[in-house]
Amino acid sequence: MTHEIAVIPGDGIGQEVTPAAVDVLESLEVGFEFVEAAAGDAVEEATGEALPQETYDLAASADATLFGAAGDSAADVILPLRTAVDSFVNVRPAKAYPGIEAVRPETDLVFLRENTEGVYAGHEDRLNENVSTLTRVVTDSATERLAEFACDYVSRNDHDGFTIAHKANVMRETDGRFRDTVKSVAEDNGVETEEVLMDAFATHVCLDPEQFDVVVCPNLAGDVLSDLAAGLVGGLGLLPSANIGPDRGLFEPVHGTAPDIAGEGVANPAATVISAAMMLEYLGYDDQGAAVTEAVESTLAEGPRTPDLGGDASTEDVTEAIIDRL
Ligand code: NAI
Ligand code: MG
Repeated sequence: MTHEIAVIPGDGIGQEVTPAAVDVLESLEVGFEFVEAAAGDAVEEATGEALPQETYDLAASADATLFGAAGDSAADVILPLRTAVDSFVNVRPAKAYPGIEAVRPETDLVFLRENTEGVYAGHEDRLNENVSTLTRVVTDSATERLAEFACDYVSRNDHDGFTIAHKANVMRETDGRFRDTVKSVAEDNGVETEEVLMDAFATHVCLDPEQFDVVVCPNLAGDVLSDLAAGLVGGLGLLPSANIGPDRGLFEPVHGTAPDIAGEGVANPAATVISAAMMLEYLGYDDQGAAVTEAVESTLAEGPRTPDLGGDASTEDVTEAIIDRL
């Protein structure tokens, strides 16, 4: 079976790390057909549109999308692209790698973040000179989709259950609905859950990250807490992510366009290659996905390494080393 993969490198180092990930995928025996499309600052300068309709349509119809990064136009590109794949969950692993300096090297967490509503639903108002308001949206339907995904995720990945991070002691209606809906779906699926107040989670995860495993969060909490965990494992540079919808997914590194090093050929391809490994697993190539992740991990541990990790290797050197290990 052939899968159509949309490849959207974007701007800056997106143009370097995305082709690197495609090279890794092309070295595997999988039936991928890559179709490249433009998005970001450069195409906006040329055409007035950061996300051309044909790029949106491609992401909306391809089996999966691999995205690099966009510059100043990032919000105009990535938010509609997540909509194009109808992404209801953002999967963000935060894992420390052997040999890489980390505040908490024992960290190995996965955040499953609600990706469509909460305080990011876009309902903000200015009532008068002095007062602005925000309406938070929590629906059973969006929360159920997230919870069903979480149940499936823990059973597929051999986890006992998951932790729900919320603040239902204060936001009784909205976070109360979120917590109750997630718990009820978990119960129906025979999956164990634990609860933690999100502010307490912030402290506990810094002091003892090993007590957590899979963490299910509302939108804003997931955004903030996963960035916090990124700090524990050595920064954003190595982190992959997946935006999953009912029929398709979009896979991207967490980092941006890195204008300070763009064009020099020294960007670290690891985050994008691990995102590509998540894409492989999403499309059912579990063995190949695990092999790519292992190849990246051993390259990170043994080198060669790019300058951000203290080495002097190029993007190409690291990509070749990953492919050699495969
Ligand atoms: P950034 O992630 O691009 O860079 C932050 C720092 O990390 C820089 O020093 C950079 O050199 C380094 N870095 C990031 N990824 C790296 C890699 N793969 N290898 C080596 N070093 C790496 O974040 P910043 O500087 O805040 O944003 C730059 C631009 O990227 C902005 O225009 C921003 O809007 C955009 N951006 C886009 C995102 C997206 O498309 N999803 C996400 C974050 C930022
Ligand atoms: Mg964020």
